[in-house]
Amino acid sequence: MTAENGNGEGETLPERKAFFKDIYRRADGDPGMVPWADLAAKAKLHEWLVRHPGNEDLAAIDIACGLGDNAEALAVAGYATTAFDLSDHAIRWARKRFPHSPVDYRSADLFNLPEAWREHFDLVNECYTLQSMAPGTLPETAAAVASLVKPGGTLLVYARWREDGAEVNGPPWPLEKSALHVFAGLGFALEHEDLFTVNRPGRTIPHSFAIWRKAKSG
Ligand SMILES: C[S@@+](CC[C@H](N)C(=O)[O-])C[C@H]1O[C@@H](n2cnc3c(N)ncnc32)[C@H](O)[C@@H]1O
Repeated sequence: MTAENGNGEGETLPERKAFFKDIYRRADGDPGMVPWADLAAKAKLHEWLVRHPGNEDLAAIDIACGLGDNAEALAVAGYATTAFDLSDHAIRWARKRFPHSPVDYRSADLFNLPEAWREHFDLVNECYTLQSMAPGTLPETAAAVASLVKPGGTLLVYARWREDGAEVNGPPWPLEKSALHVFAGLGFALEHEDLFTVNRPGRTIPHSFAIWRKAKSG
């Protein structure tokens, strides 16, 4: 990653993987060094889970779970929850933060997932991973996310976005607004989309929280 390629051109998946592993390794247990670590589940996810509680027969997975807060919210809502991240450091850290958690925390690569996970999960939660990969790799990233969802299952997607064609200087690379609908081309129907803003000092950041339903097979 260089200042010249903030639009993500030339950025490869191996480079992204090295970037993330490095962040957790260098943070060495200090969450202040992990830019996305809120140490709380996303409020929109929490609100959705209150209206859609799970049970032990419903399998959920949190993609690229980082320090585990969203995964814990899925488990508290009753889902039999798995969570994974590329970074072994992040996974060890999540387990340490939640020592009595029922969440099955695993080290895994979104682009090389266990075969047993294919179309296995009733509920898949994706937060901030799509925008973490260079824009050119969105089709591959979205397909990997989609592959985890059971036919008829639910996919939750929480992401930053920008207007189509707007300049971007990542990472992260907020999705172009039209790209928020990438899952429509992957066999999903949009059930609900909430476009809102998150206010940070001096910045208002467009966000989307979307609920997608995968078509039933056959
Ligand atoms: C911006 S963070 C978001 C973390 C978490 N989902 C959250 O919302 O706090 C992106 C996460 O993706 C993970 N990640 C990056 N590439 C990955 C890959 N190929 N497979 C699995 N996780 C990956 C990183 O380690 C990092 O934890």
